[in-house]
Amino acid sequence: DWTPGNVIADQVAAIKAQIGDARVICALSGGVDSAVAAALVQRAVGDQLTCVHVDHGLMRAGEVEQIENDFVASTGVNLVIRDEKERFLRALAGVSDPETKRKIIGREFIRVFEDAQRDIIEEAGEAGEEVRFLVQGTLYPDVVESGGGEGAANIKSHHNVGGLPDDLNFELVEPLRTLFKDEVRAVGRELGVPEEIVSRQPFPGPGLGIRIVGEITAERLEILRRADAIAREELTKAGLDNEIWQCPVVLLADVRSVGVQGDGRTYGHPIVLRPVSSEDAMTADWTRLPYDVLSVISTRITNEVREVNRVVLDVTSKPPGTIEWE
Ligand code: XMP
Repeated sequence: DWTPGNVIADQVAAIKAQIGDARVICALSGGVDSAVAAALVQRAVGDQLTCVHVDHGLMRAGEVEQIENDFVASTGVNLVIRDEKERFLRALAGVSDPETKRKIIGREFIRVFEDAQRDIIEEAGEAGEEVRFLVQGTLYPDVVESGGGEGAANIKSHHNVGGLPDDLNFELVEPLRTLFKDEVRAVGRELGVPEEIVSRQPFPGPGLGIRIVGEITAERLEILRRADAIAREELTKAGLDNEIWQCPVVLLADVRSVGVQGDGRTYGHPIVLRPVSSEDAMTADWTRLPYDVLSVISTRITNEVREVNRVVLDVTSKPPGTIEWE
């Protein structure tokens, strides 16, 4: 019978058999897949696992804390957080082109992860231990898409900042290889992974970096983070999370428009709301959100985020629009 409990029992046994006494590392992005994969491996081999979260400063409000506090509290996992916000900002300075942003973020991510890995290997070496395994949250649809073969060469690099280079000298541990997304969520819940992580909507690896149209700066990230937090809070409050596939909130940082607030003229930035409904992100339709919810989000964002004086709604399906603006 397929039950989350059975999957956990089978996978825990398989992971133990594969890893033995060696040490294992896992890159934790904050997404569902890596969190559930890590929780499974933690259940199987406990302290032999070290998770690494690369804090690139492009996460939404509260997300790093969610990993740092809630995930660790519920799983007991060893977690190393690399605070690399400055490094990413420096590397991204002056860059507006979306694909260049992705490339830079991906490249820096890999470098930081390799540094973390080196530190962990050194430490383990001093204790006379071996680090030979790397956890990946590969799902069944990824396996099918990549041809179903074995090994590192099949890690999906497409779109994925978590995509690690092929020449990593690691044996992969992929406890989610036979599962679909909803099954992963069920397994995560059974393992006690916090609901905020388990039920998370898709969020791109490059994070808010590809939701600022224009150059990425610390100030712009802060503006977007505040607007995004308001939109998410109101959508959740209205009970709409399950009707939406995801809702990118985008800052048009290079655009300004005239507005009026109090007695004064303003010259601020627009925020775009991009709520979409989808089955698999390959195609999508814009979600018909209730006007009163849109109204509350708009009023709150323009009242609470001084730099924003206009909120606009994206009513484009995919195709021709993509879900993200970049
Ligand atoms: P698009 O914008 O191509 O997005 O319609 C389809 C899905 O992919 C996500 N997305 C990304 N995920 N790295 C990721 O990990 C990326 O660079 C990236 N770009 C888009 C997007 O959020 C949507 O779920």
